[in-house]
Amino acid sequence: MSLFELTATCAFGIEAIVADELKKLGYEKTSVENGRVNFRGDYSAIIRSNLWLRCSDRVHIKLVEFPASDWDELFDGTKKVSWENFIPANGMMHVVGRSVKSRLHSVPDCQSIVKKAVIEGMKRKYRQERFPEDGPVYKIEISVLNDIATLSLDTSGDGLNRRGYRQQQGEAPLKETLAAALVYLGRWKPERMLADPFCGSGTIPVEAAMMAADIAPGIKRRFSAESWPDIKAELWNTCREECADLRKTVKTEIHASDINGDVLRYAAKNALNAGVEEMIIFQKKPLSEFSSRREYGCIICNPPYGERLSQQREVENLYRDMGRVFGKLETWSQFILTAREDFEKFFGRKATKNRKLYNGKIKTHLYQYFGPLPPRIKSEQPPDSV
Ligand SMILES: C[S@@+](CC[C@H](N)C(=O)[O-])C[C@H]1O[C@@H](n2cnc3c(N)ncnc32)[C@H](O)[C@@H]1O
Repeated sequence: MSLFELTATCAFGIEAIVADELKKLGYEKTSVENGRVNFRGDYSAIIRSNLWLRCSDRVHIKLVEFPASDWDELFDGTKKVSWENFIPANGMMHVVGRSVKSRLHSVPDCQSIVKKAVIEGMKRKYRQERFPEDGPVYKIEISVLNDIATLSLDTSGDGLNRRGYRQQQGEAPLKETLAAALVYLGRWKPERMLADPFCGSGTIPVEAAMMAADIAPGIKRRFSAESWPDIKAELWNTCREECADLRKTVKTEIHASDINGDVLRYAAKNALNAGVEEMIIFQKKPLSEFSSRREYGCIICNPPYGERLSQQREVENLYRDMGRVFGKLETWSQFILTAREDFEKFFGRKATKNRKLYNGKIKTHLYQYFGPLPPRIKSEQPPDSV
């Protein structure tokens, strides 16, 4: 069985979580770079990581890395790859690229040189001049960083955040992968109540429910590598059966509320699509009406950031209200994601920990207020590394 160098890409700041997710799947990281966790695995690792990783954006097969400070080096290094081991003669080759701090800074030119070199390599191996490109899609990524080129094949296709359940969304929805990372960082366990009083389209509650029930996030979607002839359909079926076997029924107390009734309806529909509608209680209510008698609960939320100047005063008042409302929940852990650097000033308390995370291109902060752990699960140590 062939072993591949694989890379799970992710947003900056959550590499340790992805490495931990991989470890739970049985794959040790071989190295970690900014936004990339490298590991080694066979076809089943490709399938299982695509199906199960909650916080990664994509899974790539890393093909080669070589110095490329001019076009000839890029062309020759690309041509040397045994493309025929990966791409059939009818494969549709789609090249995407990026270049950072490198002499080959024109991304369109990098893409076109790589495509030419791949075709040249394939001509030699397949002994044919023309390639119809009417078969399965192979997305080749050329990434040049500090004059080092890396070529990889994207096995995922659409980003892994696209689980398929979120068909409607409100304003500023969180990426599913980031929502899952927040739940992970919140160290939430199904025994504890979870609340998102700004739930919008329900991404955080839905991701939490899927985690609690061990629902594979990719179970309802397809992946690029699924149409590749080398990875047999039976293997995909076996890995999907594993997902079905591991799914469990679990009692949860997940509360999702929002002031906006329309987005709440989207949230309920999204939960239904994800198969977790019975695990979440949806309520239309403003933050000011949020309260709970439960102990040791967990709040994970991303309130509005107030990007426009006209909204800033309103958002600052909302953060003050949050300070009052959340302040009554003494035994709760609270995790608030916002782009505002001065959040603590309005909230009225300094966070135990503040973690920088990227919500797409927006730099945000996860203000973490750790409450005491419930006596029953005190013995469980959270993963140190994340
Ligand atoms: C940034 S969005 C949350 C997005 C959500 N995490 C998602 O993935 O769709 C903020 C949400 O807070 C809600 N909101 C604003 N003011 C509120 C208030 N006073 N009480 C409750 N919800 C409020 C908005 O309706 C909006 O859905």
